[in-house]
Amino acid sequence: MNQSVGNFLLPISLSYEITREGHVAANNRITSNYSTLKMSRLNGKFALVTGGSQGIGFACIKELLNNGIQGVTLVDVNVSKGNESTALLKEEFGTERVIFIEGDVSKEDQVEDAFEKSFNHWKHLDIVINNAGVIAEQHWQKALLTNCGGTLQCSLTAFQYLSTKRNGRGGVIVNVASIVAVHPYAITPVYSSTKSFIVMLGRCLGDSIYHDHNGVRVVTVCPGLTITDFARNAGGLEALKSLVPHSQTSYNDDRDWLKSQSSEECAKHLVRLMIEGTSGSVWTIVGNEVSQVDFSIRD
Ligand SMILES: NC(=O)c1ccc[n+]([C@@H]2O[C@H](COP(=O)([O-])OP(=O)(O)OC[C@H]3O[C@@H](n4cnc5c(N)ncnc54)[C@H](O)[C@@H]3O)[C@@H](O)[C@H]2O)c1
Repeated sequence: MNQSVGNFLLPISLSYEITREGHVAANNRITSNYSTLKMSRLNGKFALVTGGSQGIGFACIKELLNNGIQGVTLVDVNVSKGNESTALLKEEFGTERVIFIEGDVSKEDQVEDAFEKSFNHWKHLDIVINNAGVIAEQHWQKALLTNCGGTLQCSLTAFQYLSTKRNGRGGVIVNVASIVAVHPYAITPVYSSTKSFIVMLGRCLGDSIYHDHNGVRVVTVCPGLTITDFARNAGGLEALKSLVPHSQTSYNDDRDWLKSQSSEECAKHLVRLMIEGTSGSVWTIVGNEVSQVDFSIRD
């Protein structure tokens, strides 16, 4: 199966089997045949990654640069970390391949400003990874504005720059949801719900009615527990404690979908799915393994 998107030609070549949970699981671990990827498709391409100062976003930027992308814009609300990480990237990959732009994805004007500055600098945009996100159960407005509002605003703005109908050359948007968007995780009701929003957003915006017109794929990834500051700081779930004062629930339980992985492992899979995932598809990346979420029963 091929989807032609701008000058990305995307062979969909993974094979899958249905798992007990009703998911479609990749037969091969992504890492096993990663070297066969035609990463040369990233040559001459430009990406914008939100929340790229650390964690999964930072690992994605390194993965893109390692695989030949021409330029990346790191957008983050944390200026000191953004500058520090950009300096590290410039040291490793050269001074001409990465820029940092301060931006809060929950603020519409800052999103538009970041995209405009990025485009003015590189003169192109092909890939947008909407990765910025927060877990903030006790500050639900912030969680909604960042995770839902930010991902939505960045996706809509991305279409303006990527669409072949708007002087773009086609491309791909990757929205970062979470495994808790597809498996209810009762101790983070707000966070989980915001990530479910991202899943449905990607399924709708990834539909062929948009894809065929704009030449833009939208792919959604749902990482499982990934070892970053985010996961380390996710304790103190006051929302739950206010409802169930004696609850001891934490991330340390043994459910299969809570298997952990490194941010580098997560980023490798994400970048591969960015290249190979069909528009509207939703993928879990858990314990260094990838599965496509199958919604066919419900649809
Ligand atoms: N770490 C995990 O276990 C895990 C699991 C599933 C999904 N995720 C998702 O992956 C994404 C990245 O997570 P991470 O673990 O790397 O987190 P992290 O906290 O290590 O990094 C998040 C980055 O986003 C930035 N950010 C936060 N709010 C922002 C805003 N309003 N505007 C711009 N930048 C902002 C932060 O400054 C930080 O650099 C998030 O969307 C998170 O929900 C993480």
